[in-house]
Amino acid sequence: MKILLLGSGGREHALAWKIAQSPKVEKLYIAPGNAGTTAVGENVNIKATDFDAIGAFAVKENINMVVVGPEDPLVQGIYDYFQNHPELKHIAVIGPSAKGAQLEGSKEFAKGFMMRHHIPTARYKSITANNLEEGLSFLETLEAPYVLKADGLCAGKGVLILPTLDEAKKELKEMLGGMFGSASATVVIEEFLSGIECSVFVLTDGENYKVLPVAKDYKRIGEGDKGLNTGGMGSVTPVPFADEEFMEKVRTRIIEPTINGLKEENITYKGFIFLGLIRVKGEPMVIEYNVRMGDPETESVMLRIQSDFVELLEGTATGNLNEKELVMDHAPQVV
Ligand code: AMP
Ligand code: GLY
Repeated sequence: MKILLLGSGGREHALAWKIAQSPKVEKLYIAPGNAGTTAVGENVNIKATDFDAIGAFAVKENINMVVVGPEDPLVQGIYDYFQNHPELKHIAVIGPSAKGAQLEGSKEFAKGFMMRHHIPTARYKSITANNLEEGLSFLETLEAPYVLKADGLCAGKGVLILPTLDEAKKELKEMLGGMFGSASATVVIEEFLSGIECSVFVLTDGENYKVLPVAKDYKRIGEGDKGLNTGGMGSVTPVPFADEEFMEKVRTRIIEPTINGLKEENITYKGFIFLGLIRVKGEPMVIEYNVRMGDPETESVMLRIQSDFVELLEGTATGNLNEKELVMDHAPQVV
């Protein structure tokens, strides 16, 4: 197979490293890639959101599969772009349709989806400039701290956690006034959940699914878990509290209702679902959905996957993921 992987982060280096190990791979390209990916494949100087250039390259090089690393191309509709172009339609794209990518691209859509399918998550209200008063009253019903989320993509910066009601009200107005541009024209106000978080990665063909190793990322920038939050500075797998009992709840209350919900809503989804979970009094709740693998979590997760990852991706694309085997190594990995 000839595979084109999109993205340029540590996540893509880890994916490229794993994909390149498959005996099925004849050639691996990474667009645009990074210094690390040159060790396992060939970098191509194309931006991950330049669909016309990606499509032309895929045709020229007879690419069989496109694996999408970051969220931007998914939210911008790369899956649909390939489906809508006759010369690209036969190429497998690992990632959801644009509609499915709304689970990450719109916090309001994600919360509505969870409500419709009874998936446990924090209480919320979705606010725009038109119902600001409702937002201010909702804040008064909540306890500190207050969680405000810009609806759209903000490169991981769109969540504010405010210690006082006054600050929450002030920031709500600023967000609606354009603090994150159009991404915060709608703001989701959420009840604050207190607990321990983990990242659960699911690979699905839209019908069947596999749960990849569970990981945790380290978010604080400073030594000793201090300082500002980041998108993640390192990761570890497995996660001791995500034991069999907890994971059974995750499967029955979150993963299966999510996949069934996507089916019911006729949303095509053949790719990764990344569940940002929090354990509250022993019970799993969803903090957020992402529609891709985590960065940096992928670096530790890939180290524990023993099976041929390309076989799993092929199963994802063709709809027979249930016939593929996922073998995981039990040795912990810290990166
Ligand atoms: P998100 O971008 O939705 O992952 O939010 C970033 C971080 O904010 C999460 O990883 C959590 O640590 C925190 N967070 C988000 N929503 C909540 C919530 N409802 N309660 C507590 N913490 C939250
Ligand atoms: N490490 C968290 C994320 O990839 O969103």
